[in-house]
Amino acid sequence: MASRNPFTPTFGTVPAYLAGRQSVIDNMRQAFADRYGNPNLSTILIGARGTGKTALMSCIRDEAQDAGWLTASSTALPGMLDDIYEQALMSARHLIDQPSSRQLTALSLGPISAGWEHNEGSLQQGNWRTRMSLLLDQLAQHNTGLLITVDEVRADLDELIRLAAVYQHFVTERRQVALVMAGLPYHVHRLVSDKSVSFLRRSAQHQLGRIPSADVGVALRKTFQSGGKRIEEEAVDICIKSIKGFAFMLQLAGYRTWIEAGENATVTAMHALRGVHDAKYDMEEYILASTYRELSPGDLRFVEAMATDPVESRLSTVASRMGVSNGYASKYKTRLLAGGVIGEQARGVVAFDIPGFREYVLARKSER
Ligand SMILES: Nc1ncnc2c1ncn2[C@@H]1O[C@H](COP(=O)(O)OP(=O)(O)OP(=O)(O)O)[C@@H](O)[C@H]1O
Ligand SMILES: [Mg+2]
Repeated sequence: MASRNPFTPTFGTVPAYLAGRQSVIDNMRQAFADRYGNPNLSTILIGARGTGKTALMSCIRDEAQDAGWLTASSTALPGMLDDIYEQALMSARHLIDQPSSRQLTALSLGPISAGWEHNEGSLQQGNWRTRMSLLLDQLAQHNTGLLITVDEVRADLDELIRLAAVYQHFVTERRQVALVMAGLPYHVHRLVSDKSVSFLRRSAQHQLGRIPSADVGVALRKTFQSGGKRIEEEAVDICIKSIKGFAFMLQLAGYRTWIEAGENATVTAMHALRGVHDAKYDMEEYILASTYRELSPGDLRFVEAMATDPVESRLSTVASRMGVSNGYASKYKTRLLAGGVIGEQARGVVAFDIPGFREYVLARKSER
């Protein structure tokens, strides 16, 4: 009987083999071992959609847990701070006293709770920094630190700015804390530009660009192997060419090629050619078509004006093709940057951030 398909073409899923992120993981492992003072303890992962930010963040959490840290993970949405506090309490449950009859948010914090005993409301009502400080005090007694992760960062969320500001206090107080955030380039750029959290500019920032071909090859071979199949080198090359270093496509191409191989123990070039063909179709269906559908008429005019250029476009050229002012075109540029459709290569120079989107836009235009 064929074994389970080991590829994971689903957003947010940790793949069987993480291609090309070893140096980030090594840095984080060292940082968790150091516990204090290592600059990688504040890290930001930056990348376009599907480049593997969420997956890498999960692996970083695993590293932290292996090193004995507790973790609290959240997404940048309203209510995030409460969420982080509750997640932290949950993961600290085995270390702190926990009266079963109480609500989670009213957990007694071991010895500290004695002082608050007849005034337990204060523990809940203390502001976020106070509550977190009490919790971190407790963890420190067990020589344990807390890693906070925040996915999909956006600078317009006050709670995120507040988290970053409080985190800076924790670092100054030499508490064992770490903060790993992930987001689209546009949002991260806006966040680190916020004056109130300028220390974030000094955090370790990793751009998750295209994964080198050699690393893609290793991940393909190992993933097939983990499912009990061997892939021929010619087939690996065919996959690498279609993947173009894009994490999500690695999973799609591998997944489809695996299906084509069926019961065969060896994956051949023919399987790969068919698999890659189907994967391109999936990519179109899941990513390109859905992104295209979300564009407003103005966004669409902007991307069509861009698609005429082979690689990157000047904003001024796009504006003149659209027949509008630079300022007007900028409005759409900002929207598309925020959505992760395009990226800004240099001031006033933009390019598509989703592989294959330019070709897709041109094809749809010619159909009309
Ligand atoms: N380094 C990697 N090697 C192989 N596959 C990966 C790698 N990173 C992520 N993947 C796979 O790629 C897909 C996308 O990953 P993930 O959801 O982490 O992307 P993302 O950057 O968080 O995307 P988004 O911006 O849409 O949230 C998933 O199927 C995941 O399993
Ligand atoms: Mg993600």
